[in-house]
Amino acid sequence: MIGIDEKGGNVGGIPVLRKNRGKNMNETKRQYEYLEVARKEVEKLSREAGRKLTFCVNTFGCQMNARDSEKLVGILEQAGYEKSDSEEADFVLYNTCTVRENANLRVYGRLGHLNRLKKKNPHMRIALCGCMMQEAHVVEKIKKSYSFVDLIFGTHNLYKFPELLANMLASDRMIIDIWEGTDQIVEDLPTDRKYPFKSGVNIMFGCNNFCSYCIVPYVRGRERSREPKAIIREIEKLVADGVREVMLLGQNVNSYGKTLDEPVSFARLLEEVEQVEGLERIRFMTSHPKDLSDELIQVMAKSQKICRHLHLPLQSGSSRILKEMNRRYDQERYLELVEKIRAAMPDISLTTDLIVGFPGETESDFEETLKVVDQVGYDTAFTFIYSKRSGTPAAAMEDQVPDEVVKERFDRLLKLVQERGRQESSRFLGTNQEVLVEEVSHHGEGLLTGRMGQNLLVHFPGEKELIGKTVTVRLEQCKGFYYIGEKI
Ligand code: SAH
Ligand code: SF4
Ligand code: F3S
Repeated sequence: MIGIDEKGGNVGGIPVLRKNRGKNMNETKRQYEYLEVARKEVEKLSREAGRKLTFCVNTFGCQMNARDSEKLVGILEQAGYEKSDSEEADFVLYNTCTVRENANLRVYGRLGHLNRLKKKNPHMRIALCGCMMQEAHVVEKIKKSYSFVDLIFGTHNLYKFPELLANMLASDRMIIDIWEGTDQIVEDLPTDRKYPFKSGVNIMFGCNNFCSYCIVPYVRGRERSREPKAIIREIEKLVADGVREVMLLGQNVNSYGKTLDEPVSFARLLEEVEQVEGLERIRFMTSHPKDLSDELIQVMAKSQKICRHLHLPLQSGSSRILKEMNRRYDQERYLELVEKIRAAMPDISLTTDLIVGFPGETESDFEETLKVVDQVGYDTAFTFIYSKRSGTPAAAMEDQVPDEVVKERFDRLLKLVQERGRQESSRFLGTNQEVLVEEVSHHGEGLLTGRMGQNLLVHFPGEKELIGKTVTVRLEQCKGFYYIGEKI
């Protein structure tokens, strides 16, 4: 929403809005040059300090933010910093989210703590990036009340992080670089994956849907799809590096490819990804119900690799509220879609997002949500209390629902979601299932945690060496949202 550049050094004169379609190889090269500058500076500082400098990246948002953080981590590692889980580090970066008010509050809450750490460590640098930084009032507040922050950048210029890092290290003033938008996608910068065996892969950025409650289109900009070739090349590289499962990421993957010079449907892209040899599992999120095509259902149904799981956000069961939300489907269409999906894939797992307390939501609107939740039978649902986001159409709507009414509805919804989730997710009890082993389980000594294609978790006895492998497990007990199993 704003474009500010406030520091000397060599950042000077950044225009507010960049429009730079076309080849971005030069930009990648430029950023690698800055990475080298940053690396030399980090080396010098390490020598002075007599130890390696450390960094800590904290992610507050969705899977797309988490994927962005992997890129930031990759860049920091190449700059010579050592990763640390503690915020008592030489460089702390918060990758923020602003989808709901509480995401913002958490960031402000923790900044005070960072300030105290910075007073103890003269080398410490603090940076903020991500969706929250795209809001002008946030940046104003940070400038005013959190002047100890060294660097602020946004979502559109994340690829410029090597340059910003180099500039930050050469300066002792706050650097702010926020762009209003971009149509540029810069490929091939370093990344560091959280898991060696699975990875998110961005297939598109931004969102054009403007659901009336949602701030994402304002902070992430217009929808842009990556070229299929670039996506496939990235997945091939990941697989060569040990990845077995990819999660294709976008705010609305079902509208993938519409803005490409040569449009490609999401279903076609999935067919191409399926061809990548050595890849075992394909997941994706999020699917907007309005754009979910018959072609996609067919491709999923015949696929050997696409997981039998669809995250299909409903938001509200009331057709009247859905209209106000600008979701562009109604209850009837949503239920028809679910029926079609289930007919093609009876073993599919469905999950969803729900918002309680959208402006004007009446008791009978809310009961429609309960009705759909009961009827569909989701394995899990993420339930959110409506949060007013300034600048969105819903924020200006009259008839905001009183807090105590919202709270009471939220509790009722959560109860139903949990009850139905427990019933639905027990349907695989007694069967054998392939699971990808993800980590040592927190559910007991000697247990591992694996994930089924349907996204359900299974805890079973096994050795750490199995992490990252696919094994068959018999599901012995259902504990509500997870199973206890035995390896076959
Ligand atoms: N692109 C995805 C959603 C991304 S945001 C989609 O359309 O499904 C993730 C979830 O946050 C949304 O599905 C919605 O349930 C919730 N959400 C978004 N804005 C919100 C708000 N203002 N208040 C409460 N929940 C919100
Ligand atoms: Fe937000 Fe709607 Fe876009 Fe999802 S589709 S990110 S809810 S505007
Ligand atoms: Fe949050 Fe931005 Fe994701 S607002 S939900 S981190 S796209």
